[in-house]
Amino acid sequence: MDKLVIEGGTILKGEVTISGAKNAVLPIFAATLLTDDACIIKNVPNLRDTQTMIKILRSLGKEVILEKNTVTVTSTGKINFVADYKLVSTMRASFCVLGPLLAKLKRAKVSLPGGCVIGIRPVDLHLKGLKALNADISIESGYVVAKANRLKGRHIYLGGVFGSSVLATANVMMAATLAEGRTIIESAACEPEVIDLGEFLIKMGAKIKGVGTPLIEIEGVKHLHGASHQVIPDRIEAGTFMIAALITKGDILIKNLCYQHLGALIDKLLEAGAQISIVDHCSLRARFKRRLKPVNVTTLPYPGFPTDMQAQIMSLMAVTPGISVITEKIYPDRFMHVAELNRMGAYIQREGPHAIVEGVRLLSGAPVMASDLRASASLVLAGLVAKGITTVSRIYHLERGYENFEIKLQNLGAKLWREKE
Ligand code: EPZ
Repeated sequence: MDKLVIEGGTILKGEVTISGAKNAVLPIFAATLLTDDACIIKNVPNLRDTQTMIKILRSLGKEVILEKNTVTVTSTGKINFVADYKLVSTMRASFCVLGPLLAKLKRAKVSLPGGCVIGIRPVDLHLKGLKALNADISIESGYVVAKANRLKGRHIYLGGVFGSSVLATANVMMAATLAEGRTIIESAACEPEVIDLGEFLIKMGAKIKGVGTPLIEIEGVKHLHGASHQVIPDRIEAGTFMIAALITKGDILIKNLCYQHLGALIDKLLEAGAQISIVDHCSLRARFKRRLKPVNVTTLPYPGFPTDMQAQIMSLMAVTPGISVITEKIYPDRFMHVAELNRMGAYIQREGPHAIVEGVRLLSGAPVMASDLRASASLVLAGLVAKGITTVSRIYHLERGYENFEIKLQNLGAKLWREKE
């Protein structure tokens, strides 16, 4: 395993181009299972998670050709409806092959995804939605076994105790495209990645209205054809580089993004006193102009503040004088980064779903351990500004969701390199 070694203290300046959105491309890959025709997906980031989903598609009988950031998916004629535990357990997002497999093949056997460090990650809403579409669902030896001679459209309320579910919305929406009649998904997720999936499905011939709102209407069709699609930019990667500019007191032009997807984060950073200027419809400049003020943050489903930016803004608040309270409402246990940041001299207290952050003048470099994708990013951000050397181990977590992360940071002036553990 590799680790990242970071020498803190450099001010990041320059420009960075954002890659395609991991959380859009994964369900879009799953949607290719709904047709035997060729699909061409562009702006695919080269990540561990996209590689995992490609392996799953191949295991399900698809031929997948990756040429730089363009993926072509075609059918080999071989059919397999079983998504294996070995692959699904490494990436819970692969659970979103269930809906398309069931719709296309009338049966599916998908391993239940494990939990992960950010929470138990249940799938009850996925199963509730598919059962509502007339699927027969059972749990057998850690697998979801689903059968349906004919999926039938229904009005489904898909809200859970933590609000809407991104991948449950994706799973049910994909299944409903080939169901008989009309499906209405109430309390659907509104994330940009769900919109991107919906747009891809519509290009495939699906009849969908309201994607991006809490009420999605799908009129089932008999057949979906292939399509070509350019994946949206990754708003979480863009947000991570915005924080990188501010935490190092730097100035970064972030290109190839949709600033409209970043409203809650931009609002919070402006409240803190950052200078965020929209340069044009796909780039913005994040600049440190004066000492930042602490801000309180509560994570919510989109368009609220994204849970996937919680760890990163915590690193920024850890070095912002004053007290900020960060409340995690999506995954109340998503605080693995707190202990590691405290090892670097941060002063953060956990109170249930709240983290009370008292900004310190300076963090000190230390060996820290990555635990999940976004926590890893927050530790790298802290290392960029800490005094001395920080080593972040288990950086395979980072490679799951950030394409060429260290190269992009090095090009901005960061002093960091990779070493064997
Ligand atoms: C997606 O996960 C993202 N992953 C996550 O990003 C992101 O944090 C999450 O949405 C929330 O925005 C991908 O898109 C691949 P959810 P997903 O279902 O769909 C609960 C990252 O770092 N819930 O929207 O799995 C769940 O426990 C990753 O890129 C149920 O209770 O998340 C959570 O508390 C991490 N029952 C809340 O809903 C269910 O059946 C939101 O989860 C499903 C979810």
